[in-house]
Amino acid sequence: MSKKELIIPERVPNHIAIILDGNGRWAKKRLLPRSMGHRKGAFNISDIANAARDLGVKYLTVFCFSTENWKRPQDEVDFIMTEPIKEIKKYYEKIANSNIKIKIIGRRDRLSKDFLDMVNSIEDATKDHEALTLTLCIDYGSYDEITTAVKEIASEVKNGNLNIDDINENTITNHLFTKDLPQLDLLIRTSGELRISNFLLWQLAYAELYFTDTLWPDFDKKELEKAIINYQSRDRRFGGIKK
Ligand code: IPE
Ligand code: MG
Repeated sequence: MSKKELIIPERVPNHIAIILDGNGRWAKKRLLPRSMGHRKGAFNISDIANAARDLGVKYLTVFCFSTENWKRPQDEVDFIMTEPIKEIKKYYEKIANSNIKIKIIGRRDRLSKDFLDMVNSIEDATKDHEALTLTLCIDYGSYDEITTAVKEIASEVKNGNLNIDDINENTITNHLFTKDLPQLDLLIRTSGELRISNFLLWQLAYAELYFTDTLWPDFDKKELEKAIINYQSRDRRFGGIKK
């Protein structure tokens, strides 16, 4: 029996997030430059998005570049910030005609004009697609996201548009970059690292966590199915007790 047959269709996670990790080690193992790991890793995002869609996942949120990743050597940052634009240009028609909606979240003020133009164009071209929403987190960090939300809320209070007593959990959820996304069900991190690394700190409150030693460029459809099967064995009680 293939792994896919073990998946219960009604209990496929609606929203999966992934901390993709291990591109560099994947390349190193093959004596290739790190950039080749990033290239393979970038293509894998599209393969896994298609696989997730085929399995019935509706939202996939991927941590591509963090607010801390700028600390990497300049040539690596440059590669990550220019290569995807070239690839997206190459496959533009295919992406624009797919049924996947692409959204980018994170800071936008440190991205180049070329990058931003591509982001705006691809978001616009895919905005009516409904099979799966693929959210790419680029220059994203949870501390930054929550700080931005707090500033927005504070200014609404200051301007008299919001009463302090009306601030509740939903107010915060609705000011995060992820405000249009549903509750997160499953977080996957590849490459054996057991950390959250400033990703979706608020949103992860009741997500199930899944860690695998597989490096991101090797994480394929079978690995995704394995993660979903594992998820389906969990008993999600959200702080309650078993019925
Ligand atoms: C993930 O792979 C990609 C980014 C964070 C941009 P890494 O580049 O972190 O790969 P390792 O951890 O060096 O193997
Ligand atoms: Mg890493």
